[in-house]
Amino acid sequence: MKIIIRDNSKDGSLWAAHYIASKINEKAARTDKPFVLGLCTGSTPIETYAELIRMVKAGEVSFKNVVSFNMDEYVGLPVDHPESYHSFMHRYLFDHIDEPAENIHILDGNAPDTEAECAAYEQAIVDAGGFDLFLGGVGEDGHIAFNEPFSSLSSRTRVVTLTQDTREVNARFFGGNPEAVPAQALTVGVATVLSSKEVVILAFGSKKARALKDAIEGPMSHYCTLSGLQNHPAGTIVCDEASIGEVKVNSYRYFKAVEAAENR
Ligand code: GLP
Repeated sequence: MKIIIRDNSKDGSLWAAHYIASKINEKAARTDKPFVLGLCTGSTPIETYAELIRMVKAGEVSFKNVVSFNMDEYVGLPVDHPESYHSFMHRYLFDHIDEPAENIHILDGNAPDTEAECAAYEQAIVDAGGFDLFLGGVGEDGHIAFNEPFSSLSSRTRVVTLTQDTREVNARFFGGNPEAVPAQALTVGVATVLSSKEVVILAFGSKKARALKDAIEGPMSHYCTLSGLQNHPAGTIVCDEASIGEVKVNSYRYFKAVEAAENR
């Protein structure tokens, strides 16, 4: 696992956006096959998306041959609800870039048969060629996508029930009322994320410090589903000084030394 530490979320987000753009451009230079990208929601990726939008407008990258799959969506929330992940993604990314509408995939939380919807999603990912890169965030309890603590590390796309903690954390988007946060969601599984050739996780601010400590130094465990990243050959966590603050001093020094050596 690689840990990229920046002074603040702005610098971490710039790093992530430039990294994703470089990967899209690299693939475009060698093949006509689409770049298959996993995407996340939450406050964390907003600055990364803003930089990607700037880069598309400046002609530094194009999403014309990108096929994207979002991680998750609430069950039962109308697609046009301002807090649906459909609305979020259009507001903060899709409405401002050149990704063709037919390349955009987001789970349908209103599907009449949610199990069939999840199975079809997994199949669509396979049909697209599998993920080149999955961009994710992390919940305060270490969850990745909506894989709450004690979700299987071999889980695939499915319906899940959200924990009270997550509904309380996400209540800020629903007028402060945890009961207004849908109780269930559709989410890709931990194994779906880890099936990607590369995984990049963004985590900024002291609220994510415990999750990062557990994911980086803790045992690989369903207690902190992000810890599954320990078993991935190309996992990167992009963090800031606040979110990396709980790891051991020696771990911190190690990550800094590795990066300094690579940039030499
Ligand atoms: C939700 C999403 C996750 C996201 C997490 C953190 O639970 N399902 O994918 O990583 O929120 O959100 P934020 O970035 O707002 O802290």
